[in-house]
Amino acid sequence: MCDNKKKVGIIGLGKYLPAKVLTNKDLERVVDTTDEWIMTRTGIKERRIARDDEATSDMATEAAKAALKNAGLKPQDIDLIIVATITPDMFFPATACLVQEKLGARMIPAFDISVACSGFIYGLSIANQFLASGMYKHALVIASEKMSSITDWSDRSTCVLFGDGAAAAVLAPVDKGGILSMYLGANGRAGDLVKLPAGGSRIPATKKSIEDKLHFIKMNGTELFKHAVKVMADAALEATKPLGLTAEDISLVIPHQANIRILNAVAKRMGLTKDKIYLNIEKYGNMSAASTAVALVEAVEEGRIKKGDKILLDSFGGGLTWGALVIEW
Ligand code: ACO
Repeated sequence: MCDNKKKVGIIGLGKYLPAKVLTNKDLERVVDTTDEWIMTRTGIKERRIARDDEATSDMATEAAKAALKNAGLKPQDIDLIIVATITPDMFFPATACLVQEKLGARMIPAFDISVACSGFIYGLSIANQFLASGMYKHALVIASEKMSSITDWSDRSTCVLFGDGAAAAVLAPVDKGGILSMYLGANGRAGDLVKLPAGGSRIPATKKSIEDKLHFIKMNGTELFKHAVKVMADAALEATKPLGLTAEDISLVIPHQANIRILNAVAKRMGLTKDKIYLNIEKYGNMSAASTAVALVEAVEEGRIKKGDKILLDSFGGGLTWGALVIEW
């Protein structure tokens, strides 16, 4: 539960999706797969792919501009920038610093967080602390991923799953509602289940690491699936329980969009009807940290969230990491 001195809410949202659409039919020409397999096993129909000259910071900046416009603020009004990404433009400078420069923001703190698909929820939780304490007034939390840059396009077990995109939220103190509770967790012991093995200090880039395709996502999908269902349902419970909320009190769940079968199983475990789970996986696939963020933006755009609604953000990703957050809109 948040023992916030000040209530903190989301006062602006924005998204950016690359124009290029890669459909399952397109992928049938790349690897040994079918539209039918991908749809029934994952719920994904198509995904967006960034241009070669479009990096994570470019998408993040566009999403941030849209969120600032939505909030009626200028870049100079922002006191903190957090970017959640596992596909930064480069190891350093942080993508958040690149975004700061592109936006023309003041010389405020700017840093990245690397918790894979849970990044947006971790980012919101961190920003909440800075704002609730009264230290800062406006924070920009951006989730941006160019998953296509770490995807092995010859591996059918992973390449059909991921997509590119970004979304951003502006946080500020609010009079009513806002973030009511948050719950974060991690389990490094299961970190091997999804990872990008090379390119860091353990296995720096070499001719061999490239030949061995170690700069691409490696994943044990079946094991992750089991973890995802349990951990997302548990996190949801941990975030709602301290508030005395039950499934009926939650208007809409905005989950990480990794697999529609995971979400159906989570809904069942939580005792939620499927219409309370927001889905856009069909259009975008798994955009890692950006998935939950883009889903939140689109749920608002589609009028699925109204003032006073209690919504639950719920995510799970590499690390392993997880997080859930209750917001009163
Ligand atoms: N097209 C056709 N067949 C395929 C494809 C494909 N694209 N991919 C795998 N198959 C085959 C497999 O080879 C296997 O064939 P076999 O039985 O002859 O060996 C068969 O389909 C079944 O494979 P499974 O891996 O058992 O399929 P499963 O039902 O588990 O679905 C999937 C795979 C979609 C990956 C699922 O396990 C999943 O979604 N897991 C969770 C992934 C996840 O949550 N990731 C989040 C973390 S990502 C991050 O943090 C960046």
